[in-house]
Amino acid sequence: METVVSGIRSTGNLHLGNYYGAIQNFVKMQHEYNCYFFIADLHSLTTHPTPADLHGNVKQVLVEYLAAGIDPERATIYVQSDVPEIAELYLYLNMNAYLGELERSTSFKDKVRGNPDNVNAGLLTYPVLMAADIIIHKATKVPVGKDQEQHLEMARTFANRFNRLYNKEFFPEPFAFNFSDNLVKIPGLDGKGKMGKSEGEGNAVYLSDSPEVIRKKVMRAVTDAGPTADNQEKPVEIQNLFDIIKVVSTPDTYTHFDDLYNTCQIRYGDLKKQLAEDIIIATAPIRERINDIANDAPYLRQVARHGAIKARESASKTIKEVREIIGFRSF
Ligand code: TYM
Repeated sequence: METVVSGIRSTGNLHLGNYYGAIQNFVKMQHEYNCYFFIADLHSLTTHPTPADLHGNVKQVLVEYLAAGIDPERATIYVQSDVPEIAELYLYLNMNAYLGELERSTSFKDKVRGNPDNVNAGLLTYPVLMAADIIIHKATKVPVGKDQEQHLEMARTFANRFNRLYNKEFFPEPFAFNFSDNLVKIPGLDGKGKMGKSEGEGNAVYLSDSPEVIRKKVMRAVTDAGPTADNQEKPVEIQNLFDIIKVVSTPDTYTHFDDLYNTCQIRYGDLKKQLAEDIIIATAPIRERINDIANDAPYLRQVARHGAIKARESASKTIKEVREIIGFRSF
């Protein structure tokens, strides 16, 4: 059976982008594959969270994984820092990751531009740690959103480079995966780029947002003055709203508003009202479970412990072989 690995950084509550880009696939894949889903707390250290924030954020992602329907009996759910073998593999892979290729990564360049005062080595080698996460379990499929495509390409490069260096077909190549064939990019509500935690207040709808908050955020989404000619191309902020409708609403709803747009009869207020209600419906089953799970400390402890044991079983097997291959041998 093919192995699947994916993770989400522990930097706060999860949003619709995380859900449609990643988690929805996790939930489906757990029935068909050998799945490892983790909380990327090592990755979150690049922005220097306080110990209390770090722990709270790890808990939040764990709770939301479970609330979204990842079943710890089917998939292995674990916290990245509970598996020290990942950090060890990261160190080995770093020896064959080159400054030039790391600096060329688009996410690194974005981070440097956005935060020039905190260009640390962890940020530079972020894709190496990601590769270690994936190949430690010899995974071949990685459910992620479109923004991670380049990181997967780098993971393949590092896996292949290790194989070539030691002349051994050891790590398989991992590929980005989405059930719909195409990787997904969910836009934000600010009329610009993707939905994201660091893209400013009101841009992201969180799985934990109350219906009132969802309505407020959607009603404030950026729109334009409306179409002035039939079948006019949609400007980016309007296309973004249609892209969200495509994933949360029925095809009929999409067609209905698309027809109204194309005949210049659209009223954005109506579209937003419908969109807000459809987001509320789509996220209800998750939202309703979040509180109960968050308050069940024994259950969370049990899931995290059980997951750590299973993940370490797989990771330590790989790292033992890696040490052999590299030439660390006992006397
Ligand atoms: P992160 O935490 O930024 O995002 C987690 C997942 O959510 C997806 N995603 C989106 N998908 C569609 N539209 C959006 N607007 C959107 N925003 C986020 C991301 O593509 C991702 O799948 N580096 C990763 C975490 C990670 C990882 C890994 C993933 C660490 N190690 C190993 C896979 C395998 C990250 O920062 O994702």
